[in-house]
Amino acid sequence: MILSHFLLDVFILKREIIITSDGSSTIHIPEWDEQYHSKHGAIQEAYHVFIKNGFQYFNELDSSTTNQNISILEIGFGTGLNAFITFIEAKKLNRKIDYFGVEAYPVSFDEVEKLNYSKTLESGQYDDVFSKMHNLSWEEKHEITKDFSLTKQKKFFDEIEAINQFNIIYFDAFGARVQPELWTELIFLIMYKALKTGGVLVTYAAKGSVRRAMQAVGFTVERLPGPPGKREMLRATKAINN
Ligand SMILES: C[S@@+](CC[C@H](N)C(=O)[O-])C[C@H]1O[C@@H](n2cnc3c(N)ncnc32)[C@H](O)[C@@H]1O
Repeated sequence: MILSHFLLDVFILKREIIITSDGSSTIHIPEWDEQYHSKHGAIQEAYHVFIKNGFQYFNELDSSTTNQNISILEIGFGTGLNAFITFIEAKKLNRKIDYFGVEAYPVSFDEVEKLNYSKTLESGQYDDVFSKMHNLSWEEKHEITKDFSLTKQKKFFDEIEAINQFNIIYFDAFGARVQPELWTELIFLIMYKALKTGGVLVTYAAKGSVRRAMQAVGFTVERLPGPPGKREMLRATKAINN
């Protein structure tokens, strides 16, 4: 059993809902002094890292094949914020999405009810979508709409066995300070194999050791301006000539 399985299995870490600088909520883990999102703005961070530099970037690269579904893997489904904003943006861009969220420790229904994403995003017409994403059963593909499917898988990241399946990976694990074993060559090799050629992985992290681990398994890595409160973030591409 790797360290992250052990830590989260043995200690039932206390979780509490807090409000971040842009008014959106996140979950705080006091024992780790770690959040599910940036304290400087959960929604702002999610839009910058995953939507702007991940989904919108890939959509522009892939504009010749707009009739094809984009397949997205989220590493750490957690609060469902990234899935929800991807749903909203996919509507605007008129793209079809197959979304896969992997998560070993799902948030509780009680926690979901306390998250204010629908209200903060003023996404009135899609309010039911956020709760639906959480209420749907695990391990099955669900059509949220005809253009957006969601498959939630309850498992550990090192159990992912997909090969050449995804166009985009949202790599949103807890930071290397608290789960260093999730930012290693072992995990990034699993991600590299899971991506299709030409696919991209985006993450809020920018550490040199993380960038080097990505490069070691074959990724081409760019450093990009980070979200509020962070100087840089990383985008890793499974390049065509590798
Ligand atoms: C930084 S949080 C982000 C969650 C999510 N992306 C969000 O926006 O709420 C990291 C997530 O990874 C999950 N996690 C941590 N270690 C894991 C592991 N080894 N395998 C699967 N999930 C894990 C946590 O339970 C948590 O939901």
